[in-house]
Amino acid sequence: MDTTQSAQTAAPRGARVGVVRETNPDERRVALVPKIIPALLKQGVEVVVEAGAGLGALIPDEAYTEAGATLGDPWSAEVVVKVAPPNDAEIAKLSAGQTLIGFLAPRNADNKIGALKSAGVQAFAVEAIPRISRAQVMDALSSQANVAGYKAVLLAASESTRFFPMLTTAAGTVKPATVLVLGVGVAGLQALATAKRLGGRTTGYDVRPEVADQVRSVGAQWLDLGIDAAGEGGYARELTDDEKAAQQQALENAIKGFDVVVTTALVPGRPAPRLVTAAAVEGMKPGSVIVDLAGETGGNCELTEPGKTVVRHGVTIASPLNLPATMPEHASELYSKNIAALLELMLKDGALAPDFEDQVLADSCVTRERSEQSAQKVEA
Ligand code: NAI
Repeated sequence: MDTTQSAQTAAPRGARVGVVRETNPDERRVALVPKIIPALLKQGVEVVVEAGAGLGALIPDEAYTEAGATLGDPWSAEVVVKVAPPNDAEIAKLSAGQTLIGFLAPRNADNKIGALKSAGVQAFAVEAIPRISRAQVMDALSSQANVAGYKAVLLAASESTRFFPMLTTAAGTVKPATVLVLGVGVAGLQALATAKRLGGRTTGYDVRPEVADQVRSVGAQWLDLGIDAAGEGGYARELTDDEKAAQQQALENAIKGFDVVVTTALVPGRPAPRLVTAAAVEGMKPGSVIVDLAGETGGNCELTEPGKTVVRHGVTIASPLNLPATMPEHASELYSKNIAALLELMLKDGALAPDFEDQVLADSCVTRERSEQSAQKVEA
């Protein structure tokens, strides 16, 4: 008898991780890229990939099999990883006891958390991963916001009728574009850095005063309107009605002087704050550009039409949705790293064994009863 083989057969099998093909044709990202798979296999898991899962990101099936994954049905795997929130048809493919990891839009009114809970699925929303140092490597909101901030500026530059850099040519000198970024979280900071690299003269504004130093660190000026609305967990709070009116008025005056405005302001669980009024747009020079990254929650500009590019008062207002999906290669690569790190936290000797004493897992698991979590905390 071949003892080596029997020992191999007896070895405990690790968790099976399924990588699905996204169904929305605009969602070109994939949850795991081939490059990350060897590291996962080393931890004892198996990876099964749906045929064509990587095609949106121009990754052929063979790249997955060469990396050690198999092609097959990812929906029957113990852990299903994906990018976009599942639709009803996808939820129907899941059964009780399975684990789902991905963007699940837990704060959206039409989220599918209830349906996942009813189906007995253990679901982890990457949006709910706490913003703590230890979890930075898993922070998919940040990795994808970096992509969005970068691409927003490229979009502004391509829509603009003006150069970004200062140019001195025989035919004359062109002044650098002035770029204002409203809302300087992860996307806003990347937008400022990108606009600077293109040669723009940059300014940043936020309601969290601690952002001022970060704005200056990427070579931008800080626009101080005297409003402090730092909220919990590093996020902003919603402004009061008086603060909103004061902010809109102050911004209306400030915005006039800018060639490009990129807006990224969000308040968790609330509609996007209205920062740029119709009057502010009217005050801008024709040919100026606004790129509004807050379109998914209504937009930061009063004249924004989410998902569209419109021209109002001679100003181009673009509100692209899901910008990270337009850069699927690097967006997927960064997201894969986030997912692999989260998976690693859940694995013990290759088997799925999430420890809900861990804040990252407790917070991001959105289908557990909160009372159950609190009870465990009390017991601990
Ligand atoms: P976000 O996407 O929730 O919001 C974008 C920006 O809009 C924020 O800077 C917010 O202050 C600003 N904003 C909201 N209302 C506004 C208003 N009325 N006017 C102007 N600006 C307004 O923010 P994001 O990018 O998700 O970052 C949230 C926080 O998390 C930041 O403090 C960031 O530094 C922190 N963070 C921490 C990490 C960690 O330690 N692991 C990782 C990533 C982010």
